[in-house]
Amino acid sequence: MNKTYRFPEGFLWGGATAANQLEGAYQEGGKGLSIADVLPGGKVRLNVLAGNEFDFEIDKSNYVYPNHDGIDFYHRYKEDIALFAEMGFKAYRMSIAWSRIFPNGDELTPNEEGLQFYDHVFDELDKYGIEPIVTISHYEMPLHLVKAYGGWKNRQLVSFFERYAKTLFERYKNKVKYWLTFNEINGAIHFPILSLGFVPKSEDTRLQHIFQGLHHQFVASSLAVKAAHEIIPDAKVGCMLIYAPTYSFDCHPENVWHALHENRIFNYLCGDVQVRGEYPAFAKRFFQENGVELEIHDGDLELLKRYPVDFISFSYYMSRTVKKIPSSEEMTSGNIIGGVKNPFLQASDWGWEIDPIGLRIALNELYDRYQKPLFVVENGLGAYDKVEEDGSINDDYRIDYLREHIKAMGEAIEDGVELMGYTSWGCIDLVSASTGEMSKRYGYIYVDKNDDGSGTLERKKKKSFFWYKHVISTNGREL
Ligand code: BG6
Repeated sequence: MNKTYRFPEGFLWGGATAANQLEGAYQEGGKGLSIADVLPGGKVRLNVLAGNEFDFEIDKSNYVYPNHDGIDFYHRYKEDIALFAEMGFKAYRMSIAWSRIFPNGDELTPNEEGLQFYDHVFDELDKYGIEPIVTISHYEMPLHLVKAYGGWKNRQLVSFFERYAKTLFERYKNKVKYWLTFNEINGAIHFPILSLGFVPKSEDTRLQHIFQGLHHQFVASSLAVKAAHEIIPDAKVGCMLIYAPTYSFDCHPENVWHALHENRIFNYLCGDVQVRGEYPAFAKRFFQENGVELEIHDGDLELLKRYPVDFISFSYYMSRTVKKIPSSEEMTSGNIIGGVKNPFLQASDWGWEIDPIGLRIALNELYDRYQKPLFVVENGLGAYDKVEEDGSINDDYRIDYLREHIKAMGEAIEDGVELMGYTSWGCIDLVSASTGEMSKRYGYIYVDKNDDGSGTLERKKKKSFFWYKHVISTNGREL
């Protein structure tokens, strides 16, 4: 007999998206260019993410730019939100495009048209009683901040971000209670271009620049927490981590130590600063051995300590297996954060290893460490979908994936973990962040758009749409 899981009353079931991956309208409503607007589509983007030289220019004669049109949510948000409501969403995680509000990022006054757009979106969500969970910065910083300031290496970005965040809190104080500061903040350790806005030029200074950029983001995040609580008394501000539990390839003590080290640097360092309000003890040696000397201003450490986040949100797609000295044939092809192949796991068509137990491990590890509420704000299966002749899309593979991950959350809740909600990634098909493809689909709702930009943009409900609706209506009791 199938086990029944009990999710708490008021559990925030829903879906998640990011502005740059679905809005389109990249030059409408006074929006400035963002870093996502210069990222080409197709697998070439992976090379950029991996750190290849990049000039941050648009070159339409050689590349397509899928983020320019996204799935046209900018014009179709009412239709899309109505579909979310039909599934019974309690929450919708979305992001605000910084460059709609401050087109260059360094202006003193915001762009009213940009602010109005999100007013309309929040009002539409409110119509259906859907709680917005808003990411302030999700891989879409204004391009001008990249070109004129060198991205987050530059301390000036702290005050630009603070102004932007305060503008949002003032404007939406009666509409939005849940905020996330930086999407997947620790992702910068592997792919700094998306969130820090630069490509490290030399291996020697790579970590110095990345951790200096992260220090600036930690300070900016604490300033945002402070401002949110001053402006919106019942605000809840979360950090957002990409969490991949790290497994040792085998029980060789050197590999076990290596796994522990990797886990600390990738999974915990950023969270420790944002949740505990201080750099962990292990950071000192790691920084010393890697030539990282942080420039920390007077008052920074006090600020971090005083304004930690209220809850921890994270994305979970995969675990990661590491070995001290792997041979090339053991490496995984897909996992964007590297590692060796785990012989016990299957992988998606993009090589992302599927590991539902890893989610239970992630939840337990995070709760053991921080004892603060957790929120799974991304999880899902990127897969090729086929539209049948009768128009149906039978994505049983996606249902199987999600079901197993939801069960893992149910187990973690029984383990004692405090879990606020679950917003699966890409509830409506959108542009992939790592490859720029449309064909890497996550949605319950299919969007007729192809990698080359063709398609009618028509929305269709997949089989998973009806399944997830039932899951929500039974509060996770029937999976
Ligand atoms: C997360 C990001 O890393 O994973 C999202 O926060 C992204 O923006 C998601 O879309 C899935 O990755 P991808 O590359 O399959 O789109």
